[in-house]
Amino acid sequence: MTEVSICMKTTISVIKADIGGFPGHQDVHPELIKVAKEMLATAKKSGQLTDFFVGKCGDDLQLIMTHSKGVDCKEIHKLAWDTFVAGTEVAKRLKLYGAGQDLLSDAFSGNVKGMGPGVAELEFEERTSEPVIVFMMDKTDPGAFNLPVYRMFADPFCTPGLVIDPSMQGGFHFEVYDTVEGRKITFKTPEEMYSMLAFVGSRSRYVIKRVYPGPGNKVSEKEAVACVSTEKLSQIAGQYVGKDDPVAIVRCQSGLPAVGEVLEPFSFPHLVAGWMRGSHQGPMMPCAMEQATPTRLDGPPRVVALGFQLANGTLVGPADIFKDVSYDYTRQKANEIAEYMRRHGPFEPHRLPEEDLEYTNLPKLQEKFKGRFTKI
Ligand code: F6R
Ligand code: MG
Ligand code: MG
Repeated sequence: MTEVSICMKTTISVIKADIGGFPGHQDVHPELIKVAKEMLATAKKSGQLTDFFVGKCGDDLQLIMTHSKGVDCKEIHKLAWDTFVAGTEVAKRLKLYGAGQDLLSDAFSGNVKGMGPGVAELEFEERTSEPVIVFMMDKTDPGAFNLPVYRMFADPFCTPGLVIDPSMQGGFHFEVYDTVEGRKITFKTPEEMYSMLAFVGSRSRYVIKRVYPGPGNKVSEKEAVACVSTEKLSQIAGQYVGKDDPVAIVRCQSGLPAVGEVLEPFSFPHLVAGWMRGSHQGPMMPCAMEQATPTRLDGPPRVVALGFQLANGTLVGPADIFKDVSYDYTRQKANEIAEYMRRHGPFEPHRLPEEDLEYTNLPKLQEKFKGRFTKI
């Protein structure tokens, strides 16, 4: 008789949606947090979830859930969908802004992907100690993760472990999505680093979806160690309905980038697409969850980092990481850059180039003036 070893894997699912803002697109109302907590607590009691944390970033409600049912699980996605539907009822009653905004379909069809909410999920065998960071962004799109995720796993000037830790000498493999053609490709770093940058530098089209350890790493090459939500609302809805406001999950330490190495790219407030009307370039400002209330011109874009230790699926934490004073300088810099960019008003590069505004109201305006143009 062959011996079958059953190892319990943990799945962490982060599913988020903007189901109504307060005021405008600034914050999540406490009533929405309350209803989400109630729904997920019931699911935990029934054994459907191992654990959960309800968070927020700007106007996005964030469901951080652990379970043992794997990624793309219909039951878990339905739970998230039902939670957003219940929250939408509350949002409608309070007349919150854009109630139900990200629920782009009337009925759940098995998976929330393509229905509006953003999803990032990882399934893995928990190591002796399993530090995980959940990043949540507001007022931007999935390409905003390209630069920081690239730097965490491929830039030795950011991550000393790539040089010093023998487990990381084999580098990492990046799964990249082409969001225009609906195709994907995997690049191996460090050997294909330059080629990968040729693509992921175009962050409105190519987005890093997952990262896998390279050969020789302590963590299996088959287990993704980072995952980014890549859903693009405009492509699902066919028009601008708010920014995608992506999330990411990153596992850390013991052969993977350390917590500090994973956080290091965010010390640079890089320019991302989004901000007011999803039509502007602005600096990414790291901040605490309570500070993630984009106010100045509905911005500037924010990123929150919640740190957890997993203990057999239990979410020990969170630590609200960017609360730390060591990010004060970055916030100050981000405010300076925001001021500098704002001075350009409606001019590029503050405003996005025409091709990135195709889902906004700009094409309607261009249509209106089409007949007024004459040949030069
Ligand atoms: C950006 C965002 C906001 C809105 C802006 C206009 O992602 O959601 O900046 O685009 O507040 O919103 P409406 O058109 O709903 O008045
Ligand atoms: Mg909103
Ligand atoms: Mg948002």
